Amino acid sequence: MSNKSALVRVDFNVPMDNGASAGSDGYLPASAITDDGRIRAALPTIKKLSDDGFRVVLVAHLGRPKGESSSSLSLKPIADRLSELLGESIAFIPLTQIKASNGSLFSALGNARVGLVENIRFDSRETSKSDEERLDLAKELVRDADMFILDGFGVVHRKQASVTEIASLVPAKAGLLVAKEMSAFDQVLNSPAHPYVVVLGGAKVSDKIQVIRNLLDSADTLLIGGAMAFTFLAAQGLEVGKSLVEHDHLETAKELLALAEQKRVKVFLPSDVVVATAPGAPDGAHHVAVTQIPPQVMGLDIGPATVEVFADQIRNASTVVWNGPMGVFEVPAFAKGTFGVAQAVADCKGFTVIGGGDTAAAVRAAGLDDDRFSHVSTGGGASLELLEGKTLPGLANLKEHLT
Ligand code: 3PG
Repeated sequence: MSNKSALVRVDFNVPMDNGASAGSDGYLPASAITDDGRIRAALPTIKKLSDDGFRVVLVAHLGRPKGESSSSLSLKPIADRLSELLGESIAFIPLTQIKASNGSLFSALGNARVGLVENIRFDSRETSKSDEERLDLAKELVRDADMFILDGFGVVHRKQASVTEIASLVPAKAGLLVAKEMSAFDQVLNSPAHPYVVVLGGAKVSDKIQVIRNLLDSADTLLIGGAMAFTFLAAQGLEVGKSLVEHDHLETAKELLALAEQKRVKVFLPSDVVVATAPGAPDGAHHVAVTQIPPQVMGLDIGPATVEVFADQIRNASTVVWNGPMGVFEVPAFAKGTFGVAQAVADCKGFTVIGGGDTAAAVRAAGLDDDRFSHVSTGGGASLELLEGKTLPGLANLKEHLT
């Protein structure tokens, strides 16, 4: 067995079926994981390190337990799933091992080549606001590690012990997943081929203001769908019924439209939308022109004419970035807009990047495999912050990547 050891921060924050029941050991079974994409995305780095003779200890979180242990947020089902995917037994390492005086996390591996530590957020120092507390935990985690690899792209925007502090203690590199994500975002942020189409959706304009400001410098076309479109439509003086409008951002919406005009970026807002009385009342769903939205209904998806216009822009693009669904795609009556856009992005021959989180979930719900896109990000918040033009804390100290 090799003596080289690598501590790897991964993002295994996967969706779990809340209705699943725990097994006799008190933990949820691996089958409770409803999308194991993030676990699969970490396999190349884990396999590479193992093949290179490293003993590997993985650190990850699930949910936001705020320093309290709970069996429903245990990483045990994730350890089981990882073991199935790797085809070998892995060690599941309790958090008590971090403080154990008789050795390090690596001494808990036994004969296994790979181990996964229990949810690191059960230790309150992981997310502590105190630099000292985070550093204290980081020091305990890296005891006996020769190298730190950051491969959890979904957490690179977090200033947390296992993400940022460790990199200052031992030689640190980006893992293969983080390197792949960085290369895709580098291309769309710094050298996009034109025409460059940015598709934005989701509920709130306020979540996307910085992204719009940042991308207006390089994009040729901005397509806006989702509930955030209603703030723009209302800013133009349209009556949008009960649709979600951020009244405190009407001025911002006007300002962004003016800025786009000044920078000669074409902005497309929906010309028609699917309306109903509520997201949970799809029965009366029908589409109307945005100039004809009745007062008692709300817009819950873009309409078919809008899908056609958006799809045309997308198919002819050389670069597409998409962040945020076009409607409430979880409800079939309001999914056609999002799925139509997903299909158009999949058909586009240019370089296509799908933001993580809801957008990645939407393309999967549309039945489109990840290989239909140039890149499907594994990080929702992290990809958004990159598109905002921010330098992310986890990446700031990583000068090299695993090759
Ligand atoms: C995510 O799911 O986006 C990441 O795992 C980060 O999780 P967090 O938002 O709880 O920090």
